Amino acid sequence: MTQPRREVLEKLTPVLTKRWLSPDAWKIDVYERLDGYAALKKALDVHPDDLIQLVKDSGLRGRGGAGFPTGLKWGFIPQEPDGGLKPAKPHYLVINADEGEPGTCKDLPLMTYDPHALVEGAIIAAYAIRANRAFIYIRGEAVHAARRLRAAVQQAYAKGYLGTNILGSGFDLDLVVHSGAGAYICGEETALLDSLEGFRGQPRLRPPFPAIAGLYASPTVVNNVGTIASVPYIVLGGADWWRSMGTEKSTGPMIYSLSGRIVNPGQYECGLGITLRELIELAGGMKPGHTLKFWTPGGSSTPLLTAEHIDTPMDFEGVAAQGSLLGTTAMQIFSDQDCPVYATWRWLEFYHHESCGKCTPCREGNYWMVRTYRRILSGEGTYEDLDTLQDTADNVFGRSFCGLGDGAATPVMSTLKYFRQDYLDYIEGRTAPRLSAKALVGA
Ligand code: NAI
Ligand code: SF4
Repeated sequence: MTQPRREVLEKLTPVLTKRWLSPDAWKIDVYERLDGYAALKKALDVHPDDLIQLVKDSGLRGRGGAGFPTGLKWGFIPQEPDGGLKPAKPHYLVINADEGEPGTCKDLPLMTYDPHALVEGAIIAAYAIRANRAFIYIRGEAVHAARRLRAAVQQAYAKGYLGTNILGSGFDLDLVVHSGAGAYICGEETALLDSLEGFRGQPRLRPPFPAIAGLYASPTVVNNVGTIASVPYIVLGGADWWRSMGTEKSTGPMIYSLSGRIVNPGQYECGLGITLRELIELAGGMKPGHTLKFWTPGGSSTPLLTAEHIDTPMDFEGVAAQGSLLGTTAMQIFSDQDCPVYATWRWLEFYHHESCGKCTPCREGNYWMVRTYRRILSGEGTYEDLDTLQDTADNVFGRSFCGLGDGAATPVMSTLKYFRQDYLDYIEGRTAPRLSAKALVGA
């Protein structure tokens, strides 16, 4: 393992991760000793509109993948003329904790080791948008994190941070932790809302966006865990402090999840704009005997990048300039010993399985692409299969009802672009088949 250079080590900015290594930080007494709920006390003395302005000034952008400006989203929620804390028409805050993007693992440890940061952020955000009811929608599989969250919510009620007239402010909030049933599509915000309402989770047509017609057709802010957990730090540290990390347009720290062929996989929190080269250095370098070949900048839904992109600044603009997306900053690192065709097939099986079936391009396109990959990987592929894959991916991407279809087509398109030779090696017999003929049965 190579030790990171000092100037690279200094790029670590533990903000949201700073309590993760503190024993028992998930218990409210310990959390309070570590500055916990200080931001809430401060926020309740500020007018909600000023809190929205603070978040706008900080430049905070959504941490779920799309990077939408958080303060702007909060400002869409229509308020009563008197701006009161108990609006006649309900508003909701919904926290998307259905983290499911392959390779992404930033919200789960946050909720496990520091659940009160999310609860505190939720109370401040709900106060800012004047929502008297909030929900945390967490993946069904995340049983341990859900237990921690439920315990944190109970403790917050007991201390008067939740419930009626919170800390004498006149603001009421009920917070509910709701476990989903393990469907990836329920991380799409409108499918999540359908699921929360008790329906089968399938995406709704947007617009209207949830900020106008969301949960129970009422104005709803849907934010990711990392977004909401950032809010207490912004309240305590101020917008300028937040902006002192990251870049001008991509402000603040970000939790990068690194996995794959590196020495120390894990979460590294650094200012937005750090490069993959520096992140790999922080992670102890590539595993011995491995050379970087390709990587996902933000989960498998984002176009793959290659070794030549290693110095790309990992912020919204920097990654977009390379034709990809920052997404969830889940960086899966593959080496010269990994096969891009095989990796794409594995992702596609996932998307095919998780497709909700509502629209034809995604439902049928994924089925056909999975069949084609199985054929190529079992040594039965033809040159026409490459045209079929390109054509199918072109017809799924941009023609599907929600982002899942685009996400499924993305690795197909980028591996055909960068690694066509790897496909030809299967078709022309230079690479041994990775799947047996059995893979074709039922495909
Ligand atoms: P989007 O860009 O359509 O929307 C982002 C947010 O901004 C949404 O909350 C939306 O309601 C809001 N918004 C956008 N335009 C608006 C407008 N004109 N008025 C009001 N609100 C508006 O992106 P989307 O489809 O919600 O998310 C896609 C991202 O999700 C991808 O970049 C992907 O990386 C990420 N993703 C994350 C996963 C995870 O596990 N965290 C799983 C799968 C995808
Ligand atoms: Fe469902 Fe896929 Fe269509 Fe999204 S793109 S609505 S997941 S079938």
